[in-house]
Amino acid sequence: MTTAIEVSNLTKTYGDFRAVDGISFSVEEGEVLAILGPNGAGKSTTVEVLEGHRVRDSGRVEVLGVDPGTGDRRFRDRIGIVLQSAGVDTEFTVREVLELYGFAYSRRRGVDELLALVELEEKADERVASLSGGQQRRIDLALGLIGDPELIFLDEPTTGFDPAARRRSWDLISNLTSLGRTVVLTTHYLDEAEHLADRVLVLAGGRIVAEGTPAELRASADASTTIRFDLPTVDAPLSGLLDPLSGTVTGRDRAVEIVTSAPTADLAHITAWAIDVGIELGGLSVASRDLESVYLQLVAESGADS
Ligand SMILES: Nc1ncnc2c1ncn2[C@@H]1O[C@H](COP(=O)(O)OP(=O)(O)OP(=O)(O)O)[C@@H](O)[C@H]1O
Ligand SMILES: [Mg+2]
Repeated sequence: MTTAIEVSNLTKTYGDFRAVDGISFSVEEGEVLAILGPNGAGKSTTVEVLEGHRVRDSGRVEVLGVDPGTGDRRFRDRIGIVLQSAGVDTEFTVREVLELYGFAYSRRRGVDELLALVELEEKADERVASLSGGQQRRIDLALGLIGDPELIFLDEPTTGFDPAARRRSWDLISNLTSLGRTVVLTTHYLDEAEHLADRVLVLAGGRIVAEGTPAELRASADASTTIRFDLPTVDAPLSGLLDPLSGTVTGRDRAVEIVTSAPTADLAHITAWAIDVGIELGGLSVASRDLESVYLQLVAESGADS
């Protein structure tokens, strides 16, 4: 595999505030790296340094074999960028904006193809100002893809998208990687990272607090499972249900939640008890840790979320 991005000991300060505090990582060609982290973690700063939009203080950065700090037009021709807040000129029509920005690239996708990719065909001849927030964000996404780049930086690309549009944009991004493109994205949507990312980097307070595939991150956290159900009114004493459980039980009204590291045994006991006393457990569910809860734990442990 070829390395698309190599970062070592990158730091960036604003005044005397260290926004990025000595981080190192790499991204392989064809990979999707998702950078997660709370507001102010340094995600955009990192991505902007890689794009050549921000000057770093120190560290070594190589993007497509080039130092983005000295990257020229040929370098910019090979990368696509969706900034966190792009701010295109809203007086132009959608089509005009796409045509205008296309001139910056030597190789470019056709405007109609782009409009179809981000599902804005019907808005092509309307002014950008008249589009909804999510529709304007789709223009930003189109602008990131316009030069058919080898490497695409997406800084919170789907913020403001409705759920269906977000899912369709995932397909779009997956298609890019199946064509061998490399993607670096930031997101606050854990399901987005789970769905798209080959690897995840969790930043907090300008440092990397965790790194790995979504599966590796889930496995590294404590592997508790949550069992939930609603308990109907029963005559039988609840001690028969609760005492043998190995997990931690919490309850409000009739809703019971059990967090356990022995889900198989606890679930067997719960269902056996319910059958025995002849009741149906409403809304019974069993959920293993998802990336979101692992992420929240990682960030809380880093102490950098406040
Ligand atoms: N131009 C700037 N001047 C001064 N401080 C800045 C500047 N840009 C960012 N910062 C600070 O650097 C830190 C990191 O900002 P950054 O935009 O990289 O965070 P982020 O992880 O992208 O957050 P978000 O999730 O809110 O987009 C923040 O504390 C921010 O206030
Ligand atoms: Mg940001």
